[in-house]
Amino acid sequence: MNIIAANGAGIPAIGLGTWQLRGRTCARIVEQALRLGYRHIDTAQMYDNEREVGEGLRASGVKRDEVFITTKVWTTHFRPNDLERSAKESLARLRLTEIDLLLLHWPNPQVPLAETMGALAHAKQLGLARHIGVSNFTVALIEQAVAACPEPLACDQVEYHPYLDQAKVKAACARHGMALVAYSPIAKGRIRNDRALARIGDRYRKTAAQVCLRWLVQQNVAAIPRTSKLERLSENINVFDFELSEDDMSLISAMSSASNRLTDFGFAPKWD
Ligand SMILES: NC(=O)c1ccc[n+]([C@@H]2O[C@H](COP(=O)([O-])OP(=O)(O)OC[C@H]3O[C@@H](n4cnc5c(N)ncnc54)[C@H](OP(=O)(O)O)[C@@H]3O)[C@@H](O)[C@H]2O)c1
Repeated sequence: MNIIAANGAGIPAIGLGTWQLRGRTCARIVEQALRLGYRHIDTAQMYDNEREVGEGLRASGVKRDEVFITTKVWTTHFRPNDLERSAKESLARLRLTEIDLLLLHWPNPQVPLAETMGALAHAKQLGLARHIGVSNFTVALIEQAVAACPEPLACDQVEYHPYLDQAKVKAACARHGMALVAYSPIAKGRIRNDRALARIGDRYRKTAAQVCLRWLVQQNVAAIPRTSKLERLSENINVFDFELSEDDMSLISAMSSASNRLTDFGFAPKWD
């Protein structure tokens, strides 16, 4: 498994996304993923499944220090005391003593960013999280967050797949030594019907989803595909035994546009 270096953190290039995975399904998929070799799990306070992620981790028998667990603080907890309490509650649900990567889930302009970045850094200094970072931050917000944070930021987790151009955010992350972690990396499943990606895949004996995930990791981007299906767990991690040619990388990059965003809300920032 490739590891992505990010301001002192080593983020396994493929992780398991867990949004919408709940209850026993979630615990079982996390357990199976870890047994299959996944070493990175992405959850969030908002997903209401931290307890099950912790159960899956313990059931897998994989040692705690071999697994990289990310969770996220929801925007209603961005005042300093709330953020600390929220991180402690996540730890209690996960039954862990330390989160590997603690993220701000979305920007929240209602709370001064400097205050929240200070609180996030404090959570790290208290030992609640080994690394900290942000999610859904634009270039301008990355610049403000880096300037306001007394601790280095490991990543910006944003939507990224072949249909969405994220060159600007990627460059901003690189400038600051941060990793880009791609969410919805297979465009919420839409990639499976992509004939162009399937045709490229035929040359490597890989599926469209594998080509898509390989395109991400080959750019030194981490990806966190989600699946509720056991057979797809292996498919999605089996992307380290081939390399896309430069021509194929460019063909896939040319599919993108800035308007193909799948996740957007009224409270989202003004995207780059
Ligand atoms: N920070 C944020 O604001 C944010 C926002 C969105 C997502 N995320 C994180 O990113 C993770 C992934 O994003 P996502 O869940 O939106 O979408 P995704 O991983 O791009 O796509 C998931 C969908 O693709 C299907 N799928 C998975 N593997 C497949 C394969 N090999 N072939 C065909 N279809 C496949 C899944 O269906 P089956 O279950 O049927 O396989 C599911 O419907 C989330 O789970 C979450 O952890 C973060």
